[in-house]
Amino acid sequence: MKPAARIADLGTESAFQVLARARRLESEGRNIINLGIGAPDFRTPDNVVEAGRRALAEGHHFYTPARGMPPLCAAVADEIRSTRGVDVNPDHVMIVPGGKPTLFFAVLMFGEPGAEILYPNPGFPIYESMIRFTGATPVPIELREESGFACDPDEVLAKIGPKTRLIILNTPANPTGGVLDRATMDRLVSGLEEHPQVAILSDEIYSRLLYDGMEHVSPLSYPSIRDRVIVLDGWSKTYSMTGWRLGWGLWPEALIEDAERLQINSNSCASAAVQVAGIEALKGSQEPVERMHAAFDERRKVLVEALNGIPGFSCVMPKGAFYAFPNITGTGMSSKAMETLLLEEAGVATVAGTAFGELGEGFLRFSYADSLENLREAVERVQACLQTV
Ligand SMILES: Cc1ncc(COP(=O)(O)O)c(C=O)c1O
Repeated sequence: MKPAARIADLGTESAFQVLARARRLESEGRNIINLGIGAPDFRTPDNVVEAGRRALAEGHHFYTPARGMPPLCAAVADEIRSTRGVDVNPDHVMIVPGGKPTLFFAVLMFGEPGAEILYPNPGFPIYESMIRFTGATPVPIELREESGFACDPDEVLAKIGPKTRLIILNTPANPTGGVLDRATMDRLVSGLEEHPQVAILSDEIYSRLLYDGMEHVSPLSYPSIRDRVIVLDGWSKTYSMTGWRLGWGLWPEALIEDAERLQINSNSCASAAVQVAGIEALKGSQEPVERMHAAFDERRKVLVEALNGIPGFSCVMPKGAFYAFPNITGTGMSSKAMETLLLEEAGVATVAGTAFGELGEGFLRFSYADSLENLREAVERVQACLQTV
C-alpha cells in the first residue's frame, strides 16, 4: 500500500498518547494521577444528559441539516450576542462534532503549498499538524513566559507577508493559560486592517474559563475585520462534554457555503440527539458552569502555589483555561525526560511542553481539571520523585 505523502506530515496530540500509557500503567495495577489530558473531571450537568436521553427516546435518530438544527444555530447566535456583544446571522453558524472540525475546515480552506499560516507556539498541537498536512508553511507566533504567554502584536504583524492566508489566534490558550487582553487585541486588529487578504481563525474553546476578572476579547467584536473572522467554540470544555463531540463555528458570509460543503463531504452533520442536548446546555441553568468555574479557579491557585514550591520549577499564574505551564529549566531536565520520569516513577501524567511546539521546551503542562486532593498528591509525588534523581 502507498498512502499519500501528506499523511506522513500529520502530527498528533501527545496528550492522547500520554493517556494511553497512563491507562496501560493503571491496568498493570499502578495508581496514576492523570493531569495530562485536557478534559474536565466533572460529569456533564444532569439537565443536559436528560435532554440527550429524551431526544433519543423521542426519535432524534436522523440526519439534521448540515449546518445544524435551526433552533440550535439560533441558540448559538444568542450565545454569541450575550458573550461577545455581536449580532450574527444564525445561518452563518455551523454545528460540528467537537471543536476540531472547525479548525480542520478552516485550515483546509486556506492551506496549500506556497501559503503561510501563522499559529501560536507553544500552542494546541493540531494547528501545526494541520497546516503541514495541507502543504502550507507554518509560521510560529512566539508566546513567551515574560508576557504571561500573550503574544507581542507588533512581532505578529511583522510576520504577515504576501503569502499569509490565515492567522490562528487562541484566547484563552492551551497549553499556557495565557489570555489576550483588549490592548493587545486592539493593536493586532489595527494592524490586520492593513492586510485585508488575511483570514482570522479565533479559537475560543476556553472562552468561558477566565479568572482574575479578565474579560473575553474576541476579534469578532471588531467591525473592521468581522467579515473575515471565523470563530471556533463548543461545548467540550464549558459544559464538560468532551466525549459528546459537539462544537460550533461562526463563518463569514463569504465562507459559510464552502464550510458547509466540507461538512457534507465529511461528517454530514453532528449527532441529532447530541444537538438537542446542546440546546439544553445553552438555554438551561448556567449554575453548573459557574460551579465548575469556581472549582477550577480554586484549583488553579492551589496548584500554581504548590508548583512554585518545587525546587527548579517556576510557574506564572495562568489567567484562563485549566492548565498550568511551569518553567522547569531549573531542574536541568528536558521537558520530555521530565514527562517520562513523572509518569513512570511518580505516577503523575503531564505533557511535555515540546508536545505543543519546539518553543515549549523547558515547560511542562499540568491540567488542573482534577480534584484538589489529587492535585496536592500529584505535587507531593513530583517533589518526592525529584529528590531521588
Ligand atoms: C485550544 C483548543 N482548541 C480546540 C480543541 C478541540 O476541542 P474538541 O475536543 O471539542 O474537539 C482543544 C481541545 O483540547 C483545544 O485545547
